[in-house]
Amino acid sequence: MPKPLDPQTRKHLAARVKYYKEMGIHDFYRQPIDPSVELAVQPVAEAVPAKPQAPVTLPPVIDDKPSALKLIREDIGDCTRCRLHKGRTNLVFGVGNVNADLRFVGEGPGADEDAQGEPFVGRAGQLLNNMISAMGIKREDVYIANVVKCRPPSNRTPEKDECDTCSPFLMRQIDVIKPKVIVALGAVAAKNLLAVNDSMANLRGRWYDFRNSKLLVTYHPAYLLRDPRQKKEAWKDLQMVMKFLGLNPPAAKSTPEE
Ligand code: URA
Repeated sequence: MPKPLDPQTRKHLAARVKYYKEMGIHDFYRQPIDPSVELAVQPVAEAVPAKPQAPVTLPPVIDDKPSALKLIREDIGDCTRCRLHKGRTNLVFGVGNVNADLRFVGEGPGADEDAQGEPFVGRAGQLLNNMISAMGIKREDVYIANVVKCRPPSNRTPEKDECDTCSPFLMRQIDVIKPKVIVALGAVAAKNLLAVNDSMANLRGRWYDFRNSKLLVTYHPAYLLRDPRQKKEAWKDLQMVMKFLGLNPPAAKSTPEE
């Protein structure tokens, strides 16, 4: 004889039957309970057949450079990964020819770049443009970006943790563009890209292998504005780049002027 149900369970079942009846369900089937039959414990895998799995879809291989760069920009998003976001007007992603053989990497946006969302558009940018045209090419032919994408307060040097937070995106940009030559503008760019802590005197004047590109270090245009005598030295660096890339300088060009 099955054990009678306790009042609580009876009440609960009655409410359930009423509910089903109200829904138009009038037939109920109850299996007789045989207490001598032990329920077999089945392995979960058999008891609960696995739902058919959706095929694993890998992210599409993006082989067109604009889409790959767009994805990096989307990954950066409305970035708050470091403290620099607090003072930013615009995030300065990078600009230029996605198929560029030559890529310049600066330090970080200044006031003009922050206002316009484009790297090297202020005075230092004007000098960089002149350096580029002295090489016989145009700004539109190269790609330009910075180590950090948000302006440091009062144009201070970006701190190590800020550079470390931002530089993975810079590396991804480099890997997409695959320039033949990267020119690191100034010590901050050079030290961050090469992960070394050396003086400009030691870093300049030689080629480095860097992520399938050649890398050369030269002075930052802002430094050249402060000390124009060093332009001759910077021009020597750029001539190394021109030789490597097979660029012919426009005739009668000595050193780039501001
Ligand atoms: N200095 C930099 O390093 N980057 C800029 O974009 C502008 C000035």
